[in-house]
Amino acid sequence: MIITKSEFLMSSSDVKGCPNSDLPEYAFIGRSNVGKSSLINMLCQHNIAKVSGTPGKTQLINHFVINNEWHLVDLPGYGYAKVSKSIKDKFQHLITDYVLMREQLTCLFVLVDIRHEPQKIDMEFMQMLGEEGVPFSIIFTKADKLKPAEIEAHTKRYTEKMLEEWEEMPRYFITSSAKEIGKEEVLGYIEEINSQL
Ligand code: GTP
Ligand code: MG
Repeated sequence: MIITKSEFLMSSSDVKGCPNSDLPEYAFIGRSNVGKSSLINMLCQHNIAKVSGTPGKTQLINHFVINNEWHLVDLPGYGYAKVSKSIKDKFQHLITDYVLMREQLTCLFVLVDIRHEPQKIDMEFMQMLGEEGVPFSIIFTKADKLKPAEIEAHTKRYTEKMLEEWEEMPRYFITSSAKEIGKEEVLGYIEEINSQL
């Protein structure tokens, strides 16, 4: 898929405020600082999502319209330790409400930093998605930080860990926003799903 048009539509502070539209929606989620906004900018070819060195930058549900055909959604990160408990709870509600209630949500991309060991918070989050029947895929981010052999070892270990709970490994993608890796694969996957709707 070639993105010819990407526009910011709106930010919402809760799922009820999200746009009233039938367009299929693809959302990006993961721990704070994992690279969600950077990945979105790579996919769209320009800086439409805010990137920052400060975790917790994205605090609202941000909708973008792509090619007048589908919505891309940037979500706040979960599990950032340094924000207060009340802020954390607020984000948690925002995220779970969106994920469980947003009927237009077609696929949720769960972003995972490829350098890290499988994290409990990601495992639990994906477990919840499975139980609730929310379709999702995994996107490994920051692949430029590892050598090819390390990428292979890390994805293998991650797969083994997932298979302790899951019958099969969900579809996954290896990406780097810094080096523009994985863009065609992710966009191709979205296109494939859109063509089946
Ligand atoms: P929050 O909105 O705070 O939850 O963060 P986020 O998940 O949107 O992450 P963001 O895209 O803002 O990136 C966080 C930091 O990681 C920034 O300093 C980015 O420059 C860096 N980063 C993101 N993607 C990559 C990547 O592919 N490679 C490298 N080396 N750094 C990256
Ligand atoms: Mg962000």
